[in-house]
Amino acid sequence: MKVLVVGGGGREHALVWKLAQSPRITRMWCAPGNAGIAAERLRSNDRPVECVAIGAEELQALAAFAEAHQPDLTVVGPDNPLGLGIVDLFEKHELRIWGPNKKAARFEASKAFSQSFMEKHGIPAPRSGIFSEPEEASRFAAELGGRCAVKADGLALGKGVLICRDMAQADEAIDRILRRGAFGEAGRRIVIQELLEGMEISLHALCDGRVTRLFPTSQDHKRAYDGDQGPNTGGMGTYSPAPFLSEAELADVARRILDPWQRGCEAEGIDFRGILYPGIMLTAEGPKVLEFNARFGDPETQVYLPRLENDLFELLSASAEGTLADHQLRWRPDACVCVVMASEGYPGSYPKGRPITGIEAAEEIPGVKVFHAGTKLADGQLVTNGGRVLGVTALAPSLEEARRNAYEAVSRIHFEGAHYRRDIGAKALAPTAD
Ligand code: AMP
Ligand code: GLY
Repeated sequence: MKVLVVGGGGREHALVWKLAQSPRITRMWCAPGNAGIAAERLRSNDRPVECVAIGAEELQALAAFAEAHQPDLTVVGPDNPLGLGIVDLFEKHELRIWGPNKKAARFEASKAFSQSFMEKHGIPAPRSGIFSEPEEASRFAAELGGRCAVKADGLALGKGVLICRDMAQADEAIDRILRRGAFGEAGRRIVIQELLEGMEISLHALCDGRVTRLFPTSQDHKRAYDGDQGPNTGGMGTYSPAPFLSEAELADVARRILDPWQRGCEAEGIDFRGILYPGIMLTAEGPKVLEFNARFGDPETQVYLPRLENDLFELLSASAEGTLADHQLRWRPDACVCVVMASEGYPGSYPKGRPITGIEAAEEIPGVKVFHAGTKLADGQLVTNGGRVLGVTALAPSLEEARRNAYEAVSRIHFEGAHYRRDIGAKALAPTAD
């Protein structure tokens, strides 16, 4: 089987690494990939994974490549190509592809769509409203006492959510998005939600249009600095499982969120084949959905896939073909921790091209795998090439050990100006542990 993976970050490195273990895969490409992806080899025949210089949003070029090379499955990592309709385009060319089509990807591409869907189908969500008029938006924010999340409707590179704690902040956020057009077309409409308090966790469910298979819990760390301080980022680290829900509570979440979601999709003619990734707040009134994503999380994928025992190629094929009912997910009981090492200045502007050393020494620690996000080879030297540079990941029998090993691995890796959080996974351990 031949596989093409679309994307070039840490999530895609984890996808490629796991797919490469499938005995069925004999050739793999990744567009555009990165230096870590280019160093992976297939277990079946030791053939290297081939990186192809096509960007994840160059849909026509990707389709032309797939026409020429005929992969048996294309796996899409990032949200943008899904929102742009890569699945519909490939299907028009009769190329098999895994991921939600454009209509299904609206769960992520339009927060207003998701919000109305949740209300219509009884999915627990924060109190909210959808607005394109600043005055109406401001009146609703006032009803919430100014304590609200103001969200651009469309895709805004993960930056379209402004958290407000009083009316001055809410009015400024509304003004920025609706009047000053800070997010362009993506901010023509906004969703305003009441601000929820509680523990935030990530859920993932693999879907095939009829059946949903829920993953274990994980938790991301979105703020740049320790103690959830500083600006929002794409995610500074993750761990799985997150011990805030028992098995029974997780099953209850599935009943309260995934079941009505699936029934709603069927009622509205939405054929969702891919990963549904709800961001959940565990509130005093029970779990509520803050947002839906329509893809694997980054860096959630980096802690899920080392725990997954199944052949990922078989699961993704079943999701694309609608045969997920024949598969159960199997997970190692071990814990997994991923610490992101970022460039100096990230999530603001940052330099590129800084030499990276120590990855081999880090990977000598049992259970450690270093996933590359923003890296490239320049004249044979591995250098930084993005904001998030590496996802240093450790799998171990306990969360404490996984954490210890991940941080020991981080201490062996060097590039100038590297910054990372020192408290990944700390919330899950006793308050004295950190
Ligand atoms: P989103 O992209 O919608 O997940 O929002 C980004 C981040 O903003 C989330 O991960 C939460 O930390 C925070 N957030 C979003 N909506 C809310 C809300 N209604 N209440 C509290 N925090 C929120
Ligand atoms: N972990 C954050 C995201 O993938 O959106």
